[in-house]
Amino acid sequence: MNLLFIGPPGSGKGTQSKLICECYNLRQLSTGDILRENIAQGTELGAIADNYISKGQFLPDDIMIDLIEKEFQKMCHCDGFIFDGFPRTIPQADAFDLILQKHNSKLNVVLVLDVIDDELIHRLTARRTCPKCGASYHLMYNPPKNEGICDVDNGELYQRDDDKEETIARRLEIYHARTKPLIEYFEKFNLTRHIDGMLPPNVVFEKITEVLDKYR
Ligand code: AP5
Ligand code: MG
Repeated sequence: MNLLFIGPPGSGKGTQSKLICECYNLRQLSTGDILRENIAQGTELGAIADNYISKGQFLPDDIMIDLIEKEFQKMCHCDGFIFDGFPRTIPQADAFDLILQKHNSKLNVVLVLDVIDDELIHRLTARRTCPKCGASYHLMYNPPKNEGICDVDNGELYQRDDDKEETIARRLEIYHARTKPLIEYFEKFNLTRHIDGMLPPNVVFEKITEVLDKYR
């Protein structure tokens, strides 16, 4: 089973991907997490990524397509992938289709997380992230058991560079202009399923399992 998340920044793509991975033995492929790992390790890609991410801008399509192609070739002892953050533009979606075909693979479902902009700003300004595993917490909605420490691997939680209010506004603007058109793109293939992302995380997860259980 291969699934793709489409949702604005802060809609819960990362939070839900982690829950789904455990339950369905899938591998999460989060382009944002991979780029942040590269930034932390000081790679050449990391230096490029930092320049775009800190301004709330997308990286060029060719860099992202190349990255996904390499990640997709890595061995995976899993039952499929969750694509979290790729594709995000129409040219990326066209290239993605070719990559899947090349690997005799296909997308089963596109989950669209619907959340209004005001709520996204509340979520992102109070988000804390684990640098090791990428898990997301929220200071009020979803705090870690021990303040500042990741429940999964004891990583020291930090605030993402792009979670400043002015950068969030830019990211939302770009989402609406460049990523939202993908919903219509995938509707043509009858792959999209809308999920109310305004509900609490555990209820959102239940709604997702109702959809995914049909593909098991
Ligand atoms: P990326 O890391 O993918 O960021 P994003 O899409 O902006 O999404 P987020 O990770 O911010 O949010 P999320 O939906 O995962 O929400 P989360 O679960 O954390 O990408 C970062 C950057 O990398 C991009 O801006 C771009 O520069 C670059 N990039 C990446 N891919 C690219 C591509 N393909 N092309 C070009 N550039 C690319 O939840 C958010 C918060 O809300 C948390 O605090 C969480 O605890 C809380 N929360 C979650 N669910 C709920 C709920 N149901 N109710 C209440 N609170 C909740
Ligand atoms: Mg995320």
